[in-house]
Amino acid sequence: MSLLSVDTAPPTADLTTTRAPFLEQAQGRGELFIEQPFHLYSEDNHESWRRLYERMLPRWKQYANDKFLEGIDCLALDPERVPRLEDVNRFLEPLSAFKAKAVTGYVPAYLFFDCLRQREFPTTITIRDKSSLDYLPEPDIFHDIAGHVPMHTHRRFSDVLVRFGEVAKAAARRATTIEDQELRVKIVESNIKAMARFFWFTVEFGLMKGGEHGVCVYGSGLLSSFGEIQHSVESPLVQRYPFQLEWVINQYFEIDQYQPLLFVVDSFAHLFEQVDRLEDWLHDGKLDQVSPGEPLINESDLQSFLDARL
Ligand SMILES: [Fe+2]
Repeated sequence: MSLLSVDTAPPTADLTTTRAPFLEQAQGRGELFIEQPFHLYSEDNHESWRRLYERMLPRWKQYANDKFLEGIDCLALDPERVPRLEDVNRFLEPLSAFKAKAVTGYVPAYLFFDCLRQREFPTTITIRDKSSLDYLPEPDIFHDIAGHVPMHTHRRFSDVLVRFGEVAKAAARRATTIEDQELRVKIVESNIKAMARFFWFTVEFGLMKGGEHGVCVYGSGLLSSFGEIQHSVESPLVQRYPFQLEWVINQYFEIDQYQPLLFVVDSFAHLFEQVDRLEDWLHDGKLDQVSPGEPLINESDLQSFLDARL
């Protein structure tokens, strides 16, 4: 899941994050899923990819979990050029039936989770400017393809994403049984908050037991951040606790700083069990009033659940 911010930088003709007119025009036409216009990537865009990939590779070898490293090998990504999604999918689909699907930008929460349920990964196609490789509040193709997709080559992890999509569907379906309109909105908002927090502390910023440092990284926000991948594993400032569902769903987070608190799962099987528990807790009403605070649920996320086609 991703949060977009507004940038006032002037537009360019290529596919640089926050200033790609091709995407603005497509968004203006109401398009969400598109073909990747590969010819629009400039040499500067490819240079961003090359620099990002080159400096992350040694850090992945040092801090990433084994399945991610196997995934990187399986995908045969070109270190020099922004990847074509159809090339990525040629390697990805036979392994887990997942495929990357190009989007114009922000995907409302229910649609995003429902894509996962159908083994599709909404994928950002822009890339950050080569002069600001470190900090980016928005997702880009490096985060989505180099950070997320290698994990999707692992069948068990891909099943976690599908299971997550099923929980979202269960939440939307359960909402239709609540007659009081005001109560329905309140509950759905809380359910989305719980799911967004779970997703954040696992798929985006998860740690796992193992590796030479005692923990290794499987969360994509960490896997696509040169500074934070090391910080998350080595810094004494980071609090690392065993994954606890009751804590995770009630824990707020902020997106614009290194995470001070991370949760450690035992294995991908353990993670899968936790998504199962999340659904049990949904049905038991334990996600109906989680603690307030970040992330704030915007109108389109809320509406996407209320309007879900079931
Ligand atoms: Fe992400």
